Amino acid sequence: MRCNSGSMNPDQPLAFLGGLTARDFMNEYWQKKPLFVPNALPGFSGTLEADELAGLACEELADSRIVLHDPEQHRWQLRRGPFQEEDFSRLPEENWTLLVTDVDQWHAETEQLLQLIDFIPRWRVDDVMVSYATAGGSVGPHLDQYDVFLLQGPGRRRWQIAAPEENPDLLPEHELAILARFEAEQEWITQPGDLLYLPPGIPHYGVALEPAMTWSLGMRAPALADLVTAYAEHIAETLPADALLRDPELPPCENPWQLGPDHISLFRKNLDRLLRQTDDAWIPWLGKWLTGTANHWPAPAENPLDSHALQQALATGHALFRAPWARTLWHEQMLFIAGEALLLPNKDAQTLASNHCVDLKLWNHLEAATQNHLATLHARGLYALGDDA
Ligand code: SIN
Ligand code: CO
Repeated sequence: MRCNSGSMNPDQPLAFLGGLTARDFMNEYWQKKPLFVPNALPGFSGTLEADELAGLACEELADSRIVLHDPEQHRWQLRRGPFQEEDFSRLPEENWTLLVTDVDQWHAETEQLLQLIDFIPRWRVDDVMVSYATAGGSVGPHLDQYDVFLLQGPGRRRWQIAAPEENPDLLPEHELAILARFEAEQEWITQPGDLLYLPPGIPHYGVALEPAMTWSLGMRAPALADLVTAYAEHIAETLPADALLRDPELPPCENPWQLGPDHISLFRKNLDRLLRQTDDAWIPWLGKWLTGTANHWPAPAENPLDSHALQQALATGHALFRAPWARTLWHEQMLFIAGEALLLPNKDAQTLASNHCVDLKLWNHLEAATQNHLATLHARGLYALGDDA
């Protein structure tokens, strides 16, 4: 049963952050500078084995890559999954890395690692990527757009970082965006349980010293261009087609070709009014936008059940599992799920947002209206019945 407690004291020192409080970390390091924490998660040996990761990389729906490095030719090669078992047996002994993104969606124990960073809002969290590298394996020196918490599992890896550079040169003709130059300024050897936090834009280069696995807790941030486009589209959709700019106070002009100060402020005011919608409309839009996904669609349940039948199924040891890709958030009486907003009692909205599955115990704490909503979400394919592990 996967449950998130969902609450966190930002002023409590955290071993995971080397004794810093979440508040100190956010003030001093987040989006600002790297932090290396030796033994952040003592005894961490990973959440899945290398062969399980390889198995996942063979799944049609998983997003996987292999990066091979030829150190003599200084060449890098990218292969995209899904892979077949034989693909692995044909790989050289050394100098390659297998990377699988979104492992949290497929593997409950991996998803639970995200609780380590519960001080970061979930709308800011993207996924857990897991990599397995043979000795010498690396994805090359590069920089990422997003913050990442690199948690070392089995094996050791040497991490080097360099000074940020604006528009750095990349190796030509390469999908991998490998930096053409990389002058290490600082380096760490990470061992099992060590953490390296990197803010965006820091050139970094991780090379496995022996077979090594790394768990990357990766962040996301919306592109401002997408925010503006999506919100403007939403506003446009809410406006009646015949709504025109009105100007009953337009003063007479002296020169009809002049775009005068009055005209400019008329447009400014109209735009400001449109963009500054009331909270009533803006918050649901934001919650829906942040939980929406462009590339996943629920498959309606073959056997939709009403809430009474669902309760019976839960009573026989089943649980309702949320679609693993479905993002959730809550805000006062609202649950946002996969781009939709539902009005629910606040405690139910919190419960459903922070739990991946609903078993009988949780179900019994929900209001009847919420149970009915769950039946609808089940019928639409956003929750599926499964065995309660
Ligand atoms: C990895 O190889 O596990 C992560 C690579 C990176 O983001 O630097
Ligand atoms: Co990186």
